Amino acid sequence: MIRGATSRGTGFTLLTGENMRLIVTGGCGFIGSNFIRHVLSEHEDVEVVNVDNLSYGSNLNNLKDLEDDRRYRFVRGSICDTGLMSRLLEDAEAVVNFAAESHVDRSIADPWPFFKSNTEGVLVLLEAVKRSSRDVRLIQVGTDESYGDILEGSFKEEDRLKPSSPYAASKASADLFCLAYHRTYGLNVCVTRCTNNYGPYQFPEKLVPKTIVRAMLNLKIPIYGTGRNVRDWIYVSDHCEALDMVLRKGRKGEVYNVSSGNELSNLQVVDKILELMGKPKDLVEFVEDRPGHDIRYSLDSSKIRSELGWRPRHSFTEALKNTVEWYTSNEWWWKPLAGEQVLHPTPWKLKW
Ligand SMILES: NC(=O)c1ccc[n+]([C@@H]2O[C@H](COP(=O)([O-])OP(=O)(O)OC[C@H]3O[C@@H](n4cnc5c(N)ncnc54)[C@H](O)[C@@H]3O)[C@@H](O)[C@H]2O)c1
Repeated sequence: MIRGATSRGTGFTLLTGENMRLIVTGGCGFIGSNFIRHVLSEHEDVEVVNVDNLSYGSNLNNLKDLEDDRRYRFVRGSICDTGLMSRLLEDAEAVVNFAAESHVDRSIADPWPFFKSNTEGVLVLLEAVKRSSRDVRLIQVGTDESYGDILEGSFKEEDRLKPSSPYAASKASADLFCLAYHRTYGLNVCVTRCTNNYGPYQFPEKLVPKTIVRAMLNLKIPIYGTGRNVRDWIYVSDHCEALDMVLRKGRKGEVYNVSSGNELSNLQVVDKILELMGKPKDLVEFVEDRPGHDIRYSLDSSKIRSELGWRPRHSFTEALKNTVEWYTSNEWWWKPLAGEQVLHPTPWKLKW
């Protein structure tokens, strides 16, 4: 526990006072590790326990710089472990749940681990929160993919969920359990739904790091179908700030969409990366499309902007440049991860 420390920045009302402990699940992944770094640098009075089962997308190197931080502790374990989660929640004020199997292609090849961690694991967490003697706050980190695709306009929080992939279905189910547990048992839960993230420490099977890494290696850049599928791209630190605000100020039982408004097709993103890296456009190679590939995602994030005062701080051009620079100067981080499965052109065809 950390006592008597002061908080910096805008204040951390939920976690101020004594005995401030935050559980972050899935903190060895991409967004979770960025979030832990964000919270510890912004708020001196927070202690973080990171619970991660070290699934394929995880990397202990993501938090190597925090090894000596006395406010940080790592516990190897699964959110599906009822006993572990119940014990940890008896000594915590809040949980931010990033733990998930996160790659759509892998969910097409084998949906079961997705159901287990993304849906059942959240139910275990909710039950542990329900049984806890404390009023633990749970932030469920969700995705725009739960709404499915939209050809025109943008989804608002109350729109229906229509997931396309097994991954999206497992995440949408988790959101619904969270909202049902708020309604039925009065649990202190918020759900966020965010668009596509990019930035440092992202496993190089996802579009942005995969493109950078393959371009550095002068390998062809595989793009599904025509490359016209549109995503709204958000820099990971903007997402982390949004989560921090929802944790501190979000209303119980509410859903908050998080988006930057940077809608670009996959091909446009890859072209921009190649341009930044001074690589030729003919590195692009169109490959067989992903089954059930959503055409366009788009979120209306006016609720979090007007209610909580959040807005993204980074322009796409500036943040993409930072991201390219980070991967090009951190080969030590991605080189050990750049195996055949990660760099395969149509990974959903692989048997994992
Ligand atoms: N990446 C995006 O663009 C994006 C966008 C919106 C929402 N999200 C959501 O944000 C969360 C984090 O995404 P990410 O991109 O950082 O994923 P990631 O794959 O990089 O990280 C997920 C982490 O969860 C851990 N994990 C998996 N199952 C677990 C379990 N049962 N118990 C404990 N830990 C477990 C993994 O080991 C990994 O470290 C996910 O819930 C994802 O659905 C991601």
